[in-house]
Amino acid sequence: MYRSHNCGELNISNVGENVTLSGWVQKSRDLGAMAFVDLRDRYGITQLAFSNEKDAGLMTSAQKLGREFVIQATGTVIERASKNKKISTGEIEIEVSDLKILNKSELPPFTIEDETDGGEDIRMKYRYLDIRRNPIRNNLVLRHKVAQEVRNYLSNVDFLEVETPYLIKSTPEGARDFIVPSRMNEGQFYALPQSPQTFKQLLMIGGVDKYFQIVKCFRDEDLRADRQPEFTQIDCEMSFVEQEDILGIFEGLTRHLLKKINNVDVAEFPRMDYATAMKLYGSDKPDIRFDMKFGKLNDVAKNKGFKVFDDQELVVGISVPGCANYSRKQLDKLIEWVKRPQIGANGLIWSKHNEDGSFKSSVDKFFSTEDLTQWAEVVDSKPGDLILVMAGGIDKTRKALGDLRLHMAETLGLRDPKKFAPLWVVDFPLLEWDEDSERFHAMHHPFTSPKVEDMHLLATDPGKVRANAYDLVMNGNEIGGGSIRIHDKNTQATMFTHLGFTEEEAKKQFGFLMDAFEYGAPPHGGIAFGLDRLVAIMGGQEIIRDFIAFPKNNSGRDVMIDSPATVSDEQLVDLSLKLDIKK
Ligand code: AMO
Repeated sequence: MYRSHNCGELNISNVGENVTLSGWVQKSRDLGAMAFVDLRDRYGITQLAFSNEKDAGLMTSAQKLGREFVIQATGTVIERASKNKKISTGEIEIEVSDLKILNKSELPPFTIEDETDGGEDIRMKYRYLDIRRNPIRNNLVLRHKVAQEVRNYLSNVDFLEVETPYLIKSTPEGARDFIVPSRMNEGQFYALPQSPQTFKQLLMIGGVDKYFQIVKCFRDEDLRADRQPEFTQIDCEMSFVEQEDILGIFEGLTRHLLKKINNVDVAEFPRMDYATAMKLYGSDKPDIRFDMKFGKLNDVAKNKGFKVFDDQELVVGISVPGCANYSRKQLDKLIEWVKRPQIGANGLIWSKHNEDGSFKSSVDKFFSTEDLTQWAEVVDSKPGDLILVMAGGIDKTRKALGDLRLHMAETLGLRDPKKFAPLWVVDFPLLEWDEDSERFHAMHHPFTSPKVEDMHLLATDPGKVRANAYDLVMNGNEIGGGSIRIHDKNTQATMFTHLGFTEEEAKKQFGFLMDAFEYGAPPHGGIAFGLDRLVAIMGGQEIIRDFIAFPKNNSGRDVMIDSPATVSDEQLVDLSLKLDIKK
């Protein structure tokens, strides 16, 4: 028997018991006559005590223990002289009577403590050591709990978890596919699924009615803090539903998770249409934990002799609470910030709405107090606030001001990670124009149904058609997205035409789905949550890497196993990716 207890469960009520613990040496302190070792496992830390007086031999063995040695210790639970109130085992220690080294360890390349000295790269290379640290381990525990609660909740309302294949044919979710060559079918390739989208629709045609799956998805796209090339979705689909049914069920799931895991009751799940989100926040995933809504200043700021504004499509501002006292240096720093290539703004105009009601702006030469008062009304500023204004093309300016809004909120501590502000963004456009390929792309995916009331525009003004599509946004992050699907062959064919597919191309890529639509497809719709993102937000963070056991770095590499890697010529020949020169 390696252990009678784990390292997190003994307390004052166990005093006098003889116990055996196994774990890793976190730290040892040698005080000459006495030594203490912190023994760690997944459940916690227990202090082991040794003394010259009790057993000099054991004391010598304890002094030789290195960090991360795996040991087994047997002894008696005793009350500690100096107690540590911070940990559950802090009132006791083990007076060791037997000590065994189960395995030695090299000195770890970084300290395995909550605050580590290890940089990102080294932690990723030795991820198994990183996982021994509380912050990472706790994230994995949280992830497990979320997945378990998702399964409970959805199973209780009749969803079936069904697995779909990983070796499939390209699914159009907007990213590039990862491709897998087929040995048995020379010159042909599987694609790894960007999502199980087509399969879950086929399951609806198969009568499954309510499907979910906690499933890996693969997308070859540029990586960011909230994107990994392989990530996990809570993927769901339902038959005989309208948008309202889906929003209801998944609002229920989100409430359940936040209550069970974070003990938070969310008061409301507001809804906002896409056009409003873009107008008021410059983003389709607005963070509504704080205000700072956009105010369009075209009418009050153009044609006042300030050329920078006059020629622009949009002049738009926000009011930053309590920042009228910003110094010249702070304002210059903001201007530099918006000019960085990541934001790409030409500049930033400011107007201080002073405590006494007066204004001081960077454009006083062009705008009178009356003008600036009008700005203040439009952006809803109060005395003491700082008005920040940008001008330019609509899309670019909205995006830049949206980024600045988040930056200001971050600086002011308004993005409280313990506060949860969900939001449904609805009525997305069905199609978006792509400048590069000069054609429309599906904004969500090609199976999304247009809104019935906009159907008539599909032929004449496709860019104006709204979709039955929705995103669940939380704290400024897109947690999930879905839509009501097209379920008849003709509408699906029209959609493919608008997306630039010829009939043959559509048939080649999606013939199986079009055929299935001939055999009684029920009205259906669904949604997929990004599990990694959801868990990160619930854990109070936005970077998903540390909520994934073995993530990839920003170049898509796993630096621990050193992948991707080259393969042998034999393998390439087998896969018909290289000519066999022996033949
Ligand atoms: P969508 O493409 O919006 O929809 O994806 C659903 C959710 O998955 C998460 N997500 C990601 N998470 C981490 N890394 C990535 N690279 C990544 N890409 C997406 C996001 C996103 O909201 N089949 C549709 C769903 C449907 O229509 O039912 C789909 O995949 O949180």
